Amino acid sequence: MASDQDSASDKNPLNRRLIYGRRQGHRLHKKQARLVADLLPMLSPDLTARHAPQDWFSETYKAYALEIGFGGGEHLAARAKLDSDCGFIGSEPFLNGVAKLLTVISDENRQNICIYQDDARDVLDALPDNSLAAVYLLYPDPWPKTRHHKRRFVSDDNLTAIHRVLRPEGRFLLASDIAAYIDWSLIHIKRHGGFLWSACQADDWRMPPADWPGTRYEAKALAAGRRPTYLQYVKSA
Ligand SMILES: C[S@@+](CC[C@H](N)C(=O)[O-])C[C@H]1O[C@@H](n2cnc3c(N)ncnc32)[C@H](O)[C@@H]1O
Repeated sequence: MASDQDSASDKNPLNRRLIYGRRQGHRLHKKQARLVADLLPMLSPDLTARHAPQDWFSETYKAYALEIGFGGGEHLAARAKLDSDCGFIGSEPFLNGVAKLLTVISDENRQNICIYQDDARDVLDALPDNSLAAVYLLYPDPWPKTRHHKRRFVSDDNLTAIHRVLRPEGRFLLASDIAAYIDWSLIHIKRHGGFLWSACQADDWRMPPADWPGTRYEAKALAAGRRPTYLQYVKSA
């Protein structure tokens, strides 16, 4: 786990997969530790080869979606409950967040979620072309310092990967409460050229989409008086 390092190591392709951020916080409760030991391996996708997403679930679903960096999994769990015809893949390296989501999955006996407790870029690499109906990137770490901008999840490479795995007209939804990250994203996504911004009026980016479950980070931002922006895109050619 890298912390506050260096541009030199970022230039080394062997270090491309560094994740910047915490992998674990406080010690897990007993039940959480048991779920991590017993349930997590059963819900973890096999990324050793390129797989259709249906291979990662015990049932076949009408569509599949990915949430990148789900934090405590509040949005993912609520969305999986709302849309039981969709299989949701969640990727999050932070173990305590994963443990929270596992508790909900276990308590609700939810079948339509699989979890990769690591870097979402590994999931993107393993998915075939045109395989997802939606990708959610909600409140990604903003990395405000200029020398850390290259750590931002919105990057030319990651947009190319997201575009590849989305099916035609698949949706890419990005939310952030950090104006500079929104500006960065608008510029990068426009430059990519493969996404159509579906906003028609200001409320389309000022207001959450219908049936929006919210996230833990979003609740914190709202409580601190920061207003989120919601960018919704559709995959074009
Ligand atoms: C600011 S938090 C937001 C969490 C959650 N989406 C929310 O809104 O409450 C950003 C999350 O992205 C996760 N993250 C950072 N890099 C990631 C990566 N490469 N793949 C998957 N998750 C990542 C972090 O561990 C962290 O939990």
